[in-house]
Amino acid sequence: MGNPPILVTGGAGFIGSNFVLRWLETESNPVVNLDKLTYAGNLGNLAAVNAHPRHSFVHGDIGDRKLLGDLFARHQPCAVVHFAAESHVDRSIHAPDDFVRTNVNGTFALLEEARTYWSEMDPERSQFRFLHVSTDEVYGSLGREDPPFRETSPYAPNSPYAASKASSDYLVRAYHHTYRLPTLTTNCSNNYGPYQFPEKLIPLTILHALQGKTIPVYGDGQNVRDWLFVEDHCRAIRMVLARGRPGRTYNIGGRNQKRNLEVVEAICSILDELRPADPVVPHSGLIRLVEDRPGHDRRYAMDTSRIEQELGWGPQETFESGIRKTVTWYLANPAWVKEVTSGSYRQWIATQYSM
Ligand code: NAD
Ligand code: DAU
Repeated sequence: MGNPPILVTGGAGFIGSNFVLRWLETESNPVVNLDKLTYAGNLGNLAAVNAHPRHSFVHGDIGDRKLLGDLFARHQPCAVVHFAAESHVDRSIHAPDDFVRTNVNGTFALLEEARTYWSEMDPERSQFRFLHVSTDEVYGSLGREDPPFRETSPYAPNSPYAASKASSDYLVRAYHHTYRLPTLTTNCSNNYGPYQFPEKLIPLTILHALQGKTIPVYGDGQNVRDWLFVEDHCRAIRMVLARGRPGRTYNIGGRNQKRNLEVVEAICSILDELRPADPVVPHSGLIRLVEDRPGHDRRYAMDTSRIEQELGWGPQETFESGIRKTVTWYLANPAWVKEVTSGSYRQWIATQYSM
């Protein structure tokens, strides 16, 4: 028998698709990729592995217990890597329902079906892993002088998104504590890189700057985020999956604390160099301070000593190298950008991908 597969959820989204693409290059286990293809899921992200013999895509919802039960029984995965979620804070403020449905109830459904499958596994039961991908936002907001969040920092989620992720983290914790399900949780800071949906600050800034549209920066632009190139996050997840201690949580971050205005200005100056003939140059002339996000967290920063010391992980990209790669990627992929911004991919639900 060949290597057992891993079950990835949300593998057509931004981080999930980067993870799947790199996994298939570096690891030998096949991937069963379950994704609902919401507005944020895009099979175009996976075009390079469309016909890959070790990748099978399943269009479905993590809340569908029957589907999950069938997938576990049929594919017998050795691990679950759980990315699927509603991920955008602004959307959670305007319409929180889907955040509770997917992030809380969906994670619960996945945990229950994983537990049933795992409890009947023999003899590889102790090797099984359930890796839950979470966020630094569960810890709330830091003041300017506060030390970065540690794994022991108290939870204080502020947005409906953060609260839904905190709820899912607690469920995962309880499944380890109560049932001994071998869970791992990663709490990561802001990611950026290829395939990020242009509702998030960095791709939105790139695309607005290219089109000569205003670049909206919330409030005074002094909110701080700890930026991590997506590839570094994916490598951290692979390391935690391989060597993390069950029941443990791992903070992941970029050691790149930046104010939002610094981020958009950095993008504008790269574009000034690469796109001197754009409609508005310097591109920073497009930046506008706009009304703040309600309840906007002031600062996030991660203390990553645990994953560094236990697993030897550290980011390989600096902000300067990662943001240049990202801008260059968006410039080199106008067809992807067009498809995502036109929304046509939402109808693109390939029939050959059904179970
Ligand atoms: P994303 O919004 O780009 O992708 C989410 C994916 O999940 C999409 O492909 C979507 O179709 C899928 N999905 C949504 N609901 C589903 C459901 N009910 N069933 C199956 N699939 C469903 O998100 P992302 O930015 O790639 O984030 C992935 C994970 O990482 C999330 O859990 C998020 O909370 C976490 N995270 C994100 C960041 C970040 O900066 N983007 C940082 C830390 C943690
Ligand atoms: O910290 C990890 C989190 O990072 C993840 O858990 C979330 O899934 C991910 O969406 C991200 O959340 P943020 O709210 O930090 O990301 P966003 O790109 O929406 O915003 C980054 C910062 O930029 C934040 O301070 C809000 C601000 N912003 C955002 C947008 C979209 C603006 O000033 N203008 C904008 O137009």
